[in-house]
Amino acid sequence: MNQQQLQIFLDIATEAALDAGAILKAKFRNLKDIQEKGRPGDLVTEADKQAESAVLKVLKRHLPDHQILAEESGTVGGKNNQYLWAIDPLDGTTNYAHGYPAFAVSIGLMIEGIPQLGVVYNPLRDELFRAAKGLGATCNRLPIQVSQTQELSQSLLVTGFAYDRQETKDNNYSEFCYLTHLTQGVRRGGSASVDLTDVAYGRLDGYWERGLNPWDITAGIVILEEAGGLVTAYDHRSPIDINSGRILATNGHIHQSLSEALQKTPSMGIFFC
Ligand code: IPD
Ligand code: CA
Ligand code: CA
Repeated sequence: MNQQQLQIFLDIATEAALDAGAILKAKFRNLKDIQEKGRPGDLVTEADKQAESAVLKVLKRHLPDHQILAEESGTVGGKNNQYLWAIDPLDGTTNYAHGYPAFAVSIGLMIEGIPQLGVVYNPLRDELFRAAKGLGATCNRLPIQVSQTQELSQSLLVTGFAYDRQETKDNNYSEFCYLTHLTQGVRRGGSASVDLTDVAYGRLDGYWERGLNPWDITAGIVILEEAGGLVTAYDHRSPIDINSGRILATNGHIHQSLSEALQKTPSMGIFFC
């Protein structure tokens, strides 16, 4: 993909993210409709739906033949399956529904299955993260870089817990405790795209999670990699499989040690179904 074309796609994604972000900002702490989607605690609000419509409108107007995978609408769009946009109109719905200010719009593009472009817009912080393969990563148009933290013991991490956490032993509770013990702290941000862009910006040193969907992470992966970070499977050697739901994403320096800690996490053996 030539860089001129990527730049055009980046500007289209930016237009969509800013439109959706304006809706999220206007509706924040002013919601009329909050529903559960399936699993207990998996919420959807009128803001998710309206923000998604705004993103789809922009993408369909500019790129009618591209395919789109959007959290609330599923697969929509045109016939050209070389391009797949992965859209999370409101990443951090639980935070949003409670009036907790940590959420973003996430718009990623996979070209032939590989994440190539990402825009994450956090309307309350007014931070617009953008990246495309080979073009670098920016926040509000200024270049960004991952942290220089070298040691796991000196690191500040973030993780999350999927909506199936009450149904599976593989719920990340043991890993959360073990890594809290080994590091300067583990945050639970509640928005995968904010977590990834916080690592890209150098505010956090690493992130891992399971049970994710492509719309949660496609954009953030590109932003983090272009900011100098590393994204792989948990084993730190295999490339990430975007459909596996698992991600290990760091500043690069602590990547192997975080991976090894995850793999030798002792089981806590409580809170299991
Ligand atoms: C969720 C957030 C959260 C992660 C969940 C996701 P949503 O997305 O990214 O941080 O832990 O697994 O599903 O539902 O707020 O769009
Ligand atoms: Ca999400
Ligand atoms: Ca969402």
